[in-house]
Amino acid sequence: MTSLAVRSIESGYGEVQILWGASVELGPGKLTTILGSNGAGKTTLLRTIVGLLPVWKGTVLLDDRDVTRLSPHDKAKLGLVLVPEGRQLFSTMSVLENLEMGATPKNARAGMRATLDQVFVLFPRLAERRTQLAGTLSGGEQQMLAIARGLMSKPKILMFDEPSLGLSPSDSSRFVVTP
Ligand SMILES: Nc1ncnc2c1ncn2[C@@H]1O[C@H](COP(=O)(O)OP(=O)(O)O)[C@@H](O)[C@H]1O
Ligand SMILES: [Mg+2]
Repeated sequence: MTSLAVRSIESGYGEVQILWGASVELGPGKLTTILGSNGAGKTTLLRTIVGLLPVWKGTVLLDDRDVTRLSPHDKAKLGLVLVPEGRQLFSTMSVLENLEMGATPKNARAGMRATLDQVFVLFPRLAERRTQLAGTLSGGEQQMLAIARGLMSKPKILMFDEPSLGLSPSDSSRFVVTP
């Protein structure tokens, strides 16, 4: 059984084709890593899977449902979420407010307090700094917050683009948790 099946995806920027038939399959409860040199197309693939870039050809199946043409918003509602590279936090909002913003899907909002507790166990530093503005956190702390915000959406599939950027080795291993 696959949770996510990406089949023969082609996409790019304007006229420039970057992906020429990329495929990847993810099973439930599995951790999958995509490796490649700089410029290989990892970010392009992730952005295409969540719908931030249009799919030119190929299909994206989530639990056997064709979600290829859905908007990033609708894909997030179905549990397909990307923690983008570069963090993209709400810098003038507090840590807590950023985390609450992550819990926008309906099912995530209902259990938000419990998820918040789990996230604070995973990243105690964020608990300590819950009232601090996100833009004033250190780079590593901002990365923790970006990861934590992704977890707040209770995703079925959470994809990270360069997740360890700015994190210490011990913090990098911290969010690799068994589902
Ligand atoms: N916004 C963009 N416009 C045009 N080309 C881009 C853009 N972003 C990335 N590219 C090109 O797409 C290719 C793949 O880049 P990217 O997906 O960022 O690779 P990776 O994440 O594996 O380092 C590179 O050749 C890069 O120059
Ligand atoms: Mg990249």
